Amino acid sequence: MKTLIVGIGALGGLIAARFRAAGLPVWLATRDTEQADKLRASGLRVTGMGGAVAVQATAIAPLDAYGADDKFELVFLATKAHDAIEAAPRLSLLLGPNATLLPIQNGGVPQMLGERLGSCVLGGLSNLGATMEEPGIYEQRNAGHLLIGELAGGESERTERIRRWVERAVAVRATRNLRGAVWSKLLVNCSVTTIGAIAGGTMREYMASPSGSELFNRTYDEALKTALATGAQPETMLVEPIPPGWRADGIASEERNTWITKVLTAYGDVTPSMLQDIRRGRRTEIEFINGYVVRMARQFGFDAPINAAIVETVHAITSGRLAPNPGLLAQVLQAPTHK
Ligand SMILES: NC(=O)c1ccc[n+]([C@@H]2O[C@H](COP(=O)([O-])OP(=O)(O)OC[C@H]3O[C@@H](n4cnc5c(N)ncnc54)[C@H](OP(=O)(O)O)[C@@H]3O)[C@@H](O)[C@H]2O)c1
Repeated sequence: MKTLIVGIGALGGLIAARFRAAGLPVWLATRDTEQADKLRASGLRVTGMGGAVAVQATAIAPLDAYGADDKFELVFLATKAHDAIEAAPRLSLLLGPNATLLPIQNGGVPQMLGERLGSCVLGGLSNLGATMEEPGIYEQRNAGHLLIGELAGGESERTERIRRWVERAVAVRATRNLRGAVWSKLLVNCSVTTIGAIAGGTMREYMASPSGSELFNRTYDEALKTALATGAQPETMLVEPIPPGWRADGIASEERNTWITKVLTAYGDVTPSMLQDIRRGRRTEIEFINGYVVRMARQFGFDAPINAAIVETVHAITSGRLAPNPGLLAQVLQAPTHK
């Protein structure tokens, strides 16, 4: 299956190196010529979980250098969310007949691309964790897997065909409920990760303060109400996505505390990836995480004011008007409940 990987950063670099090491026909697309030249010179090296590999970066070029004659059967989209949305229409020109575009971004990207480009899009997400020390040097941080499935739900012959192809290089599973899985990840990202980015620390640190724990609960509940309104059935990942006895009005209960302890065990000590983006001065994916929740809630006839206030706060941080600190959490809670 002639495959193109677009975006040779942390995740794309890891996947590209493992495809190449498995001897599969894979082409790589970078943002520009400079990135392609650097990687061609350095090659791709992976350390960490899943075993070390070192391969040459051949068949690599800037995305613009691929044209309508270079038809691929599978295009793996491994850029950040905003670049994925920008690049996707162009990528559809690189797809052969019956070919598949597989986005693996966090947040609402797979659904957004599915709505824009139709059935060529197969939904995907990554439970694989990867970091890039410098271009060409990657670390696989966990024993996670990619998850793929039809956005419309159910099984399909192509999901199974692509799963069998990709598993020659990296761990991958198929699900009949990709939308549910996407929402489960989104629920964690829009609460655990984003609030940590605003507070400048881990979930365990911010949950020690009353405003941190109130903000977590209100953000999560707003997002869960939105997920359920869209008809998604969030799937269990490390923790069940619907707290036991959950009610949209967020009444505290003993069961809820037990559930939060489980969330803390699973995610409480991870440095939020969005905080790392902020510290490196990189654009965040906030518009596709909490911003997606806000837009979907609106589409289904209600507001998500806490998620909206989180979006505004992250924009204030990335534009330099605020700096991450725990004091911001109480300010976010001041958001008007009816906008
Ligand atoms: N890393 C993880 O562990 C992980 C886990 C789960 C999900 N994800 C999701 O996976 C996505 C990618 O994450 P990442 O950590 O791999 O990001 P990343 O390290 O920033 O890699 C993205 C790469 O895509 C390149 N790029 C941007 N626009 C491009 C274009 N038009 N054509 C070709 N290449 C382009 C970027 O170049 P520049 O550097 O020039 O921008 C960068 O090299 C994100 O949505 C993230 O949320 C990541």
